[in-house]
Amino acid sequence: MAHVLSIANQKGGVGKTTTTHTLGAALAEAGHRVLLVDLDPQACLTYSVGLDPESLPVSLHDVLTGRNKAEDALVHTTGISIIPASIDLAGSELHLANKVGREHALSRALQPLKDHYEVILIDCPPSLGILTINGLTAADHVLIPLQCETLSHRGVGQLLETVADVRAYTQPDLEVLGVIATMFDGRTRHTREVVADISNRYGLEVLSPVVPRSVRFAEAPAKGRSVLEHAPTSPGAIAYRELGTTIAQRLDLYSDTQ
Ligand SMILES: Nc1ncnc2c1ncn2[C@@H]1O[C@H](COP(=O)(O)OP(=O)(O)OP(=O)(O)O)[C@@H](O)[C@H]1O
Ligand SMILES: [Mg+2]
Repeated sequence: MAHVLSIANQKGGVGKTTTTHTLGAALAEAGHRVLLVDLDPQACLTYSVGLDPESLPVSLHDVLTGRNKAEDALVHTTGISIIPASIDLAGSELHLANKVGREHALSRALQPLKDHYEVILIDCPPSLGILTINGLTAADHVLIPLQCETLSHRGVGQLLETVADVRAYTQPDLEVLGVIATMFDGRTRHTREVVADISNRYGLEVLSPVVPRSVRFAEAPAKGRSVLEHAPTSPGAIAYRELGTTIAQRLDLYSDTQ
């Protein structure tokens, strides 16, 4: 039965999509069966794995509206599977708005796939709307990517309130696994202070290691590859591999190939 992790932060551009893709690639590289879910109408994750969001026969929108099964939307790329998104997904918010059980649409759709994967990673959009609530309700763990800069963590309290609401109303077993510090610049004292402040202030663990800032991350999506393939020995690739190990240990993942 798959562990389901939602990568969430309503703040834009903090590294949610990059983390979903690269961590997924790292876990797949380590021999785990990984499924990615693109829950963002911007469809950046879909694009990052080399798919064209505008020419998908079936996408997550069709699944959330009940037209197709999740299985019909699956695409298998190198070493990884994805349920892709298209801009249509913005319409899912409207579709779900007045449905009974709307928070559970993604969770229900993923259920039949859970036996086929060890890890399912969900890339949430930068909002706390119904799509993110679906992502959290479908998950058993949340990972919070955070850019270690002044004020970047101001929304974390609000995110944690949403997580608490989801726990109270739709998914009692949801837990925050930790923070992933992205675009980390260890040269400045300030970023180190922000990391310390996050653990003190919110009682959240900053998972080891932090992810360094690197231009390699901006280059990879246009090539349809993760940084692990684009720049396999770069410090960023190494950091996500190590994060994959940390997370696999936390989840007690068993891999046949290890
Ligand atoms: N460690 C890093 N170093 C440098 N650039 C990075 C790093 N991680 C991500 N980026 C870049 O930062 C930008 C935002 O990253 P990403 O798209 O992953 O964030 P996001 O939280 O998913 O954004 P959104 O909220 O819009 O969905 C991208 O251009 C990405 O390539
Ligand atoms: Mg994103």
